[in-house]
Amino acid sequence: MNGVDSVGMSVRRVLVTGAAGRVGRAVLDLLAAEGIEATALVLDDPGDLPARRVVAGDAAEPGTVRTALEGVDAVIHLAAIPTPERDPAERVFAVNTQATFTVLEQAGLAGVRRACVAGSQAANGLAFAARDLHPAYVPIDERSPSQAEDPYALSKLVDELTAATMARRHGMGVVALRLPYVGGFDERLRDFAARCAADPGLHARGLWAYLETRDAARACVLALDVPGTGARTVLVAAPETLVPQPTEELMRRYHPRAELRSPLPGRTVPVDLAPAREVLGFTARFTL
Ligand SMILES: NC(=O)c1ccc[n+]([C@@H]2O[C@H](COP(=O)([O-])OP(=O)(O)OC[C@H]3O[C@@H](n4cnc5c(N)ncnc54)[C@H](O)[C@@H]3O)[C@@H](O)[C@H]2O)c1
Repeated sequence: MNGVDSVGMSVRRVLVTGAAGRVGRAVLDLLAAEGIEATALVLDDPGDLPARRVVAGDAAEPGTVRTALEGVDAVIHLAAIPTPERDPAERVFAVNTQATFTVLEQAGLAGVRRACVAGSQAANGLAFAARDLHPAYVPIDERSPSQAEDPYALSKLVDELTAATMARRHGMGVVALRLPYVGGFDERLRDFAARCAADPGLHARGLWAYLETRDAARACVLALDVPGTGARTVLVAAPETLVPQPTEELMRRYHPRAELRSPLPGRTVPVDLAPAREVLGFTARFTL
């Protein structure tokens, strides 16, 4: 079985926004396998989602979100424009931040007390900057200073502030999961890994981190099980990079001024995964 491990929790009905997307579909599959009822909020109903209810509409629209929240006791909010590369900057920022505000505000008003929102490792600013940026130190962690210059990174930073605000405003527990590059073994992940093996520079901005789609889904579901109120930002990734080259060698070549705060033997991913283990009980299972 997929095994969420600790989801023997009080959460029985979950709203998943962006449920027709890459991560959303994997979340619906996992919830179904765990016997947890799902409501899917999607822009357009693709007709094949394994959810008890499907609500079609905009996650930034309060009435739509209120309808989707009926009977729900937790929310996994994934709906977003996941890159700044296709849409105008204003739209990327506005859609992402407004959807997160609306979903958490309506969830709080509806009495929902547990939420997970999809953040991004790209909030550090490296992934989509117009020039090469470098981390101040590795392993990166949730306290790494952001160098955001692009609207997507900014939207994800604002989403984390929104999560913290809504946690206080409504007495909720909210986890913002900073996801790295996410892909399935059956789709883009192996191809991307092969291209990065040939040219590690392709993913230097992502610090060669990745998460298989089913692991991303499991982290989202585990985030609903974090006790207490307040907001947490947690980085998740597979424990090793998606390239064969040793990480310290890659760091010296692509980010030579980054401070190495702890040894990164072999292919160790330069991301601090201790909070993911300690807060979520999460370790990736689907690794290259
Ligand atoms: N895939 C990655 O590599 C990656 C990495 C870091 C973070 N993330 C974040 O994870 C989340 C899920 O990503 P994904 O890869 O599944 O993306 P995706 O594009 O496959 O899915 C996102 C879904 O959200 C929907 N959506 C967008 N705006 C909406 C709105 N206003 N109302 C309702 N639905 C809306 C889209 O139609 C899409 O189906 C996103 O928040 C993304 O920013 C993804």
